[in-house]
Amino acid sequence: MNCSRKGRFSGRQTLSVALALALCLGWNIGSLHAQTVIPITTGSNALVLEANKEKDLSVIYFGKKLVNEQEYKMVSSVYRQTGDYSEQLNAAYTPAGSRNMVEPAITVVHADGNRSLDLRYVTHEQKQQADNVSLYVITLKDPVYDFEVKLHYKVYPRQDVIEQWSVIRHTEKGNVVLEKFASANLYLKAQGFWLNQYHGDWAKEMQPEETRITHGIKTIDTKLGTRTNLFLPSVFMVSLGKPATEDEGTVLYGTLAYSGNFRTDLELDFQDNLRIISGINNYASPYTLKPGEEFVTPSFIHTLSDKGKGQASRQLHDWARNYRLLDGKGTRLTLLNNWEATYFDFNESKLKELLRDTKKLGVDLFLLDDGWFANKYPRNDDKAGLGDWQENKSKLPNGVVSLVKEAAKNDVKFGIWVEPEMVNPKSELYEKHPDWVVRQPARNEHYFRNQLVLDLTNPTVQDFVFSVVDDLFKKNPGLAYIKWDCNAVIYNAHSAYLGKNQGHFYIEYMRGLYNVLKRLREKYPTVPMMLCSGGGGRVDYEALRYFTEYWPSDNTDPLERIFMQWEYSYFYPAIASANHVTDWGKQPIKFRTDVAMMGKLGFDIVVSHLSAKDLAFCQNAIKEYNAFKPLIYQGDQFRLADPRKGSVASVAYLNKEQSEAVIFNYMVSSRYGEGSVYPIRLKGLDPAAMYSLQEICLYPGTKTSIDGSKQYSGEFLMKIGFNPELSTSRTSVVLKLQKVK
Ligand code: GLA
Repeated sequence: MNCSRKGRFSGRQTLSVALALALCLGWNIGSLHAQTVIPITTGSNALVLEANKEKDLSVIYFGKKLVNEQEYKMVSSVYRQTGDYSEQLNAAYTPAGSRNMVEPAITVVHADGNRSLDLRYVTHEQKQQADNVSLYVITLKDPVYDFEVKLHYKVYPRQDVIEQWSVIRHTEKGNVVLEKFASANLYLKAQGFWLNQYHGDWAKEMQPEETRITHGIKTIDTKLGTRTNLFLPSVFMVSLGKPATEDEGTVLYGTLAYSGNFRTDLELDFQDNLRIISGINNYASPYTLKPGEEFVTPSFIHTLSDKGKGQASRQLHDWARNYRLLDGKGTRLTLLNNWEATYFDFNESKLKELLRDTKKLGVDLFLLDDGWFANKYPRNDDKAGLGDWQENKSKLPNGVVSLVKEAAKNDVKFGIWVEPEMVNPKSELYEKHPDWVVRQPARNEHYFRNQLVLDLTNPTVQDFVFSVVDDLFKKNPGLAYIKWDCNAVIYNAHSAYLGKNQGHFYIEYMRGLYNVLKRLREKYPTVPMMLCSGGGGRVDYEALRYFTEYWPSDNTDPLERIFMQWEYSYFYPAIASANHVTDWGKQPIKFRTDVAMMGKLGFDIVVSHLSAKDLAFCQNAIKEYNAFKPLIYQGDQFRLADPRKGSVASVAYLNKEQSEAVIFNYMVSSRYGEGSVYPIRLKGLDPAAMYSLQEICLYPGTKTSIDGSKQYSGEFLMKIGFNPELSTSRTSVVLKLQKVK
């Protein structure tokens, strides 16, 4: 039977067409009139889909799950539809050009030029893939065209996390153009929605903004191509019914796991419900799909909590450490970086001195930053040399190899900075391969940090980018760490390689990047790599499959970092946050170090400039950090005092056994000099257990005012609280909580 017949249902034909379709699509005729309910359940929640008798697939419920799954069948009956409308507002994947007049999840132009799509439920399956991982796949087909979408829902019940993506395929007689191709399409019902989104810029990352969602569409997107989180990160929260707080309220976190252009539309429809459609940004990206080819979208990741923002973030952290972040359950290396200590101005003997300082300080690794390469156009500032990855002979006459050896002699590891996706026009690479550069052939070049982006759609360029890192490892088998930077956005998007197929540029760029990262990880599976993008311009859960950590911001002023790390921490676990102690800000070294310890600790200071006391403090703090870092890396994070709501910030990291925690407390404002007047309530403890609190990481010569011999019940600490005794002379206090019985 020819399944691709064209036409429309009308009048008397309806029954015979429906029957023909049923046979054609392999449906069980008996089920034509039946409703199919698909509860996609996590530990606490259910996302319930329903195919009605016309086989339209809808989201009928997303919220706390029912004990009796059979009752989901009755959900539709309790929501009365009002008004005269035919749109399927709650479609599980909204097609364009047929009965829906709302924002589509998918828009296509069929091989015959027709622009309508209708997607009907055909079948679904569920597979348990591993303990705590199951995959639901739901097949939708167009009754008229040979076009299908398979909706994927990967569920992690213990973390209440769902990962959604779509696989689009057709067997039409020619190519189909996909004009929009979302990963996921959600539908939420509540009495009002509040969006917490982020914006920023270089050194101003993760500025939160919360607003009530009004009717119409709110879009969070980027068209930057690379460094895509620079102005608008893809992470967001939606509170249902009322704005969620740290510990109360229902809140959904969402983010697209994708490093390229993304787009999330939040549409409050005329029924006052919220449609969320997220995927690759279709901006300048019509995608030509050949018959039989599959288009696989990136994942949209979400978690729903009815216990506020804190719980949602702990769910996501657990999911990330267990299933996504590279080496999420492992540990991390502390380091000394030379960027702010030297910038581009160094030579071998200066670096050898820094290697000795690395040992003296007591961190694990020395990280050589930008400026070590290029000869014809030496990399002495950010205007030249990018792309020429040969050691600069005047700075490093004996190559990186001699530094790696010197590091080993000092019993420290060695890491290096690269920015392999980019090129300065002032470079040999640019001179040799102008066709490898993303640029418009007939237009003036336009630069971002004096540089351009290499065309990763081109497999030869992918080989080159791979070889930049591979060669470093081949020449220096002892190399133990890579900082991978990405400082420019894509202006004048155009690929010489893609010829007339420019609509694929942004998508193929990301595929090229992921190909390179995949190849690197196949060859070097465990080497830690930092994801940097002129700060936090590229942080997402697809890139973090390949990276062990990210650089939140070039802004390392500890006061600013308290706020930034607070916001990042809603979405990413502390083990992934690379925090360096630098000379930014006015706070003393203790304050700077304490803030950097709330993640993966590093230093970017001139060790030899430290006073004896400051150095002794750092050396001791690193030792203490090494002892408690499993709590930061693998513990549950509790935000105790919000720096935006008062003059104090407090964050705790508690182990899963509820027996040990480290608590960081800061005075973030001294306007009235009041310090911690009120006690801070702990969270997550065993109320019946007894605990002690010791102050740690003390500055040499200072005495603590905290009585470490006192014992408190968990109940006391959670209901009444503790007082870190912050004051203008004690602006930063780290406490170690220990269960005593
Ligand atoms: C970017 C990074 C910095 C540093 C410089 C080097 O700005 O964010 O940490 O590596 O590049 O040029």
